[in-house]
Amino acid sequence: MKFFIDTANLGQIKEAHEMGILDGVTTNPSLMAKEGIKGKKAVEQHYIDICNIVDGDVSAEVISTDFDSIIKEGKHLSKLHEKIVVKVPMIKDGVKAMKWFTDHGIATNCTLVFSAGQAILAAKAGAKYVSPFIGRIDDSGWNGVELVQQISQIYSIQGYKTQILAASIRSSLHIIQCAEAGADVCTCPLDSIMGLLKHPLTDIGLAKFLEDAKKFA
Ligand code: G3P
Repeated sequence: MKFFIDTANLGQIKEAHEMGILDGVTTNPSLMAKEGIKGKKAVEQHYIDICNIVDGDVSAEVISTDFDSIIKEGKHLSKLHEKIVVKVPMIKDGVKAMKWFTDHGIATNCTLVFSAGQAILAAKAGAKYVSPFIGRIDDSGWNGVELVQQISQIYSIQGYKTQILAASIRSSLHIIQCAEAGADVCTCPLDSIMGLLKHPLTDIGLAKFLEDAKKFA
């Protein structure tokens, strides 16, 4: 399973990249706004800055909702950098636009996916990635990880090539469960990635080794 980081924060992207475990980045308008980036040019430069840090795909989301505008915006975003993947919402014009992008060699990430039916449509449109929102599904009393399992099974039976990109990750446990459920990619906040490092027996064991090492230093 690939690791993407789900942030527009350059410091966090650099930190994950420097660990050597980062395969890409996802952003969305909320994450861009959180960084206080204002204006079209600044947003575009920020995408380029992210692309210059990481190896791998960087999702940049369109904010248009009708077919013609999604195409115009997505074409523009895709020209900013070769690593850009155009993130398109799961709406009717979005599906139509993803098919157009697929036919014209532009990679897409289908976002705001909350059901297996939506994931089938994303695959039919040729999306490179489908993004089920695990945490938001859990928030609404359903089970986000079970949706990843279901999509994984359907894609495997049907031979769909779209990669399952588990999004809206809220914990380190979510990452482990998504790996078990067959996600191809997990896009995570930095805290959830760092949480994977933690185990008290590692800390206790290391402290003992370092203490014992003093005996022969
Ligand atoms: O990748 C989608 C993600 O950013 C949404 O996460 O925590 O806002 O549900 P969240």
